[in-house]
Amino acid sequence: MNPLSSLLESLLKRNRTEYSEDVRKLINSLINEGDLHHGESWAAHMTPSLESPALLGQLLSGLHNGNLLSPELYPQLVKIEKQLIDWFCRLFEHNHAHFTHGSTYANLEALWQARELSQADSTIVYASQDAHYSVAKACHILGLQFKSIATNERGEISIEALRQACQQQSPLAIIATAGTSSCGAIDAISSCVALAEQFSCWCHIDAAWGGALMLTAKSYLLDGLKEADSISFDPHKALAQPRPCGVLLYQQPLKSISDIDYLAQAPKQTLLGSHGGEIFLPLWFSLLLSGEQKLAQQINHRLLQAKQFYSTLKSQTDWWLLSSPTGIVCFRPASHYDLSPLIEQGIFSTVTINDQLSYRAVFASDKTQAKALLAALEIYF
Ligand SMILES: Cc1ncc(COP(=O)(O)O)c(C=O)c1O
Repeated sequence: MNPLSSLLESLLKRNRTEYSEDVRKLINSLINEGDLHHGESWAAHMTPSLESPALLGQLLSGLHNGNLLSPELYPQLVKIEKQLIDWFCRLFEHNHAHFTHGSTYANLEALWQARELSQADSTIVYASQDAHYSVAKACHILGLQFKSIATNERGEISIEALRQACQQQSPLAIIATAGTSSCGAIDAISSCVALAEQFSCWCHIDAAWGGALMLTAKSYLLDGLKEADSISFDPHKALAQPRPCGVLLYQQPLKSISDIDYLAQAPKQTLLGSHGGEIFLPLWFSLLLSGEQKLAQQINHRLLQAKQFYSTLKSQTDWWLLSSPTGIVCFRPASHYDLSPLIEQGIFSTVTINDQLSYRAVFASDKTQAKALLAALEIYF
């Protein structure tokens, strides 16, 4: 029996809850549906198989249910939040951070702060054509002009095209992506930061997916990150955490939401409203019970599986392939095979690269095995 089913079963028994066979079937079918993410051949999206300590943290946050808009009522929760924020600030070498409900919100808030705080006399925001669509959406909400910049053959922003664009029209902000959603590419962060300095504009790094590398020996791939004005990162993508768990880091201080009397003074510098332990207690439990080293091992394991998947396809097929440093591999079989059955099973997803339909394997779960994905593809070799 799935461990979650047996936990649910015992909780319901303890509460002496009577429920019908139909309800039991419904619960079990939901549990089975979620089992997709625990399988060896799950590689469709950035949804990881969750760490068991994280599930405990989620349960505890439900029991606690405090709202940090009234921090004076929850000193223990405030203390834990602060411990984690300090941990993130050390990890990313930034001075300030707060939790978010994910990078859609973090990208919006970072651009909002860029608009409020930047000295630049411009409304233009540059990011690569592969930047997550939340960036264009945030610009639309904030009345800014989003301009996309071409990418190179690895899916990274073209620094030459970015420089030329800046020379033609000076920007309010430059956004670099560390781990694009489509193919996992990391933009040249140091060059983006240097251009932002040259043109006196804000530099935000969307590291929603790739920020996890900071926990590993591959953190050098994100060199330049500490000079950025702001960074978004989502433990709910690459650190085996349940949603919502995002973080937004700044180099310059913003007034913390917990320094503000919520009813007397509306918090003006963060988007975050009602929130409590649901955003960070799962991660706190993971760090407490598994430790930072285990999280790093899981990331390294996923990256190794991605590498094995890529090198086997490279040695055994003549397919078009694109690997990335963040654990996403894109591919296109030589002939026009229809891989839709594998898409429907959640094994792979599709993505358009250079106007061509391509397939994408996302190594987000430490349960995902290269050999299981290769076995599913073998008949097309
Ligand atoms: C690079 C990147 N940025 C931002 C986001 C938005 O994150 P969320 O959907 O958690 O808000 C995503 C989502 O996949 C992403 O891949």
